[in-house]
Amino acid sequence: MSLLVIGCGKMGGALVSRWASNTEISITIADPFLDAAPAGTATVRGPADLKGKIFDNCVIAVKPQLIADVVPSYLPFISESACVFSIAAGFSIDSLTKIVGKRPIIRMMPNLPAEIGKGVTGYFGNPEASPGDDELAKLLTESIGLSLQVLQEEDLDKVTAVAGSGTGYAFEIIRCWIQAAESIGLSADTSREVVLATIGGAVDLASVKSNSIEHLRNSVTSPNGTTAAGLAELRKDESMEKLIKATVDAALSRAIELR
Ligand SMILES: NC(=O)c1ccc[n+]([C@@H]2O[C@H](COP(=O)([O-])OP(=O)(O)OC[C@H]3O[C@@H](n4cnc5c(N)ncnc54)[C@H](OP(=O)(O)O)[C@@H]3O)[C@@H](O)[C@H]2O)c1
Repeated sequence: MSLLVIGCGKMGGALVSRWASNTEISITIADPFLDAAPAGTATVRGPADLKGKIFDNCVIAVKPQLIADVVPSYLPFISESACVFSIAAGFSIDSLTKIVGKRPIIRMMPNLPAEIGKGVTGYFGNPEASPGDDELAKLLTESIGLSLQVLQEEDLDKVTAVAGSGTGYAFEIIRCWIQAAESIGLSADTSREVVLATIGGAVDLASVKSNSIEHLRNSVTSPNGTTAAGLAELRKDESMEKLIKATVDAALSRAIELR
């Protein structure tokens, strides 16, 4: 199967590297500004370099505001039955249809840990997408981490608000935690190492246990102990609960505005 990937920046580059090393797909990247192509892929600078080529499918990975200008010039180089995959945030299937015509379209919303195979990607296809197109979406998304087919397009905004933007929330929480570790006298390097290992350990443990997260929290909290003292602060007035809810709500509202 041949795949044309239009645009290869931060996200496209992360995906293509994983696909090139974990699938049998033959990948050609079209990006006029790309310095070094990921191993196992071919690169072209623009449509003029594609004469005589027809690709089975394509992936749109340019910024949303470039899609209308850039994508039409590549359409002559994809097969009539090609499925158009798009990772462009907030660019709906209706808007994509206006540009690529009525054909199979599958939107995929990955997040950046896809770069190391630990992404979370929601995907949704239009009625034109065949079971074979869905299978390909599954292969592309599973090779970059956790894959989730959502039942309606609006759900992609929910996945974006929780997971797509979630990497940013996680980094901010980690930053505050490291800052607190430094404030009580641990060195910057130790603070970073200890906080990352603590969060990583908790995530890994929760992933292999079937207990609820509340149960796991209680199981590490002895009455009147240090964890209880810390959690009393963390849970005071439910302020963190409210803050995280407001964070996800704000991202969802913005995703809806961008539709
Ligand atoms: N970053 C994320 O975490 C993330 C998550 C989910 C979805 N996305 C989506 O992924 C898409 C790309 O985002 P990104 O963060 O990867 O942006 P990016 O780093 O700016 O990547 C876009 C790439 O397209 C290239 N490009 C510009 N003009 C082109 C043309 N005429 N033909 C082909 N390629 C061209 C850009 O080159 P120049 O840099 O030289 O302009 C760049 O390499 C966006 O639609 C975004 O919504 C991103």
